Amino acid sequence: MKHYNIANIPGDGVGTEVAAEAIKVFDAAAKKFGFKVSYENYDWGCDYYLKHGEMNPSNMLETLKGSDAIFLGCIGDASKVPDHISLTLLLKIRKGFDQYVNLRPINLYPGVDSPIRTATPESVDMIVVRENTEGEYSSMGGFFKMGTPDGFAIQNAIFTHKGCERVMRYSFELARKRKAQGKAGQVTNCTKSNALNYSMVYWDSVYAEVAAKYPEIKTDMALVDAICMWFVKNPNFFDVVVASNLFGDIITDLGAMLQGGMGFAAGGNINPERVYPSMFEPIHGSAPKYAGKNVINPIASIETARMMLDHIGEEAAAAQVQTAVKNILAAGKIKTRDMGGSSKTNEVGDAIAAEFLAVK
Ligand code: IPM
Ligand code: MN
Repeated sequence: MKHYNIANIPGDGVGTEVAAEAIKVFDAAAKKFGFKVSYENYDWGCDYYLKHGEMNPSNMLETLKGSDAIFLGCIGDASKVPDHISLTLLLKIRKGFDQYVNLRPINLYPGVDSPIRTATPESVDMIVVRENTEGEYSSMGGFFKMGTPDGFAIQNAIFTHKGCERVMRYSFELARKRKAQGKAGQVTNCTKSNALNYSMVYWDSVYAEVAAKYPEIKTDMALVDAICMWFVKNPNFFDVVVASNLFGDIITDLGAMLQGGMGFAAGGNINPERVYPSMFEPIHGSAPKYAGKNVINPIASIETARMMLDHIGEEAAAAQVQTAVKNILAAGKIKTRDMGGSSKTNEVGDAIAAEFLAVK
């Protein structure tokens, strides 16, 4: 029997609640598909910080290294720890495990309303590949002459050939796979080379270099500001979108709205070579004000578990989880608060797990 070790970091705010629903569905998958799963639970996060003066123990990466995958609920609670400190936990794992692809699928499922009028299940089917280890998130810079009228800050953005090339290659490979499934076979380069005349000009040149190796894949380019407009105006135009760390962060919150809201947006931080474990997390924040109320939408988290199943090699289980999610949403009986209903967080996981066990 296959046996997977999953590291579970529920994190802050609603993290515990959404992680529980993801694990419920994961456990159902283990039962139905005949594999074993053990969880190592870690209580790292803002409460841990209040007790220990750090978000996580210093041997965090060694501790996680042997896992088959990491599940992370959400991190951050500004009432306890400033965000730029709490979020180092997340960034340390992304960078330390060289999870250079942040994969963010954007689909609108039937039965879900998007606040964006052009968004329909037919028009919204794209995936953003966000560079996840460098760019604007390189954490290099400093504060100078603080507390004087001459104070200033520098925040460097680092774009290496290796960093750009590998995320672009991943995007073109993904477009090739999607093309084989009947999708457009197109990679849009999300850029800003009109204004960022070094970093993004370099990014574009690496895009062109990689694109040349994939003649069957359509190329496309959009400035990040314009892409926000096009996502709303013509979502159906997009297939794969490759973006730098910061731009990918920004456009996927807009993407989440195309999907019906933050409660639906799943993500994976992937180390494609599998030298290190990958980490799966819904892209929403920790919403501390809703914590413990059992009202948050756990579908993003369940969809994140689906991506994790897919990654560890349980593709058939992943496909059935997606079918179950779609069936439950299409039936329209389960609607959490963000969808205008009153279903509880745990009821959503129960319904999806039961549907998953029933689908063939
Ligand atoms: C995300 C989040 C993080 C990011 C924050 C919490 C550091 O917004 O995963 O999209 O900016 O990457
Ligand atoms: Mn974000």
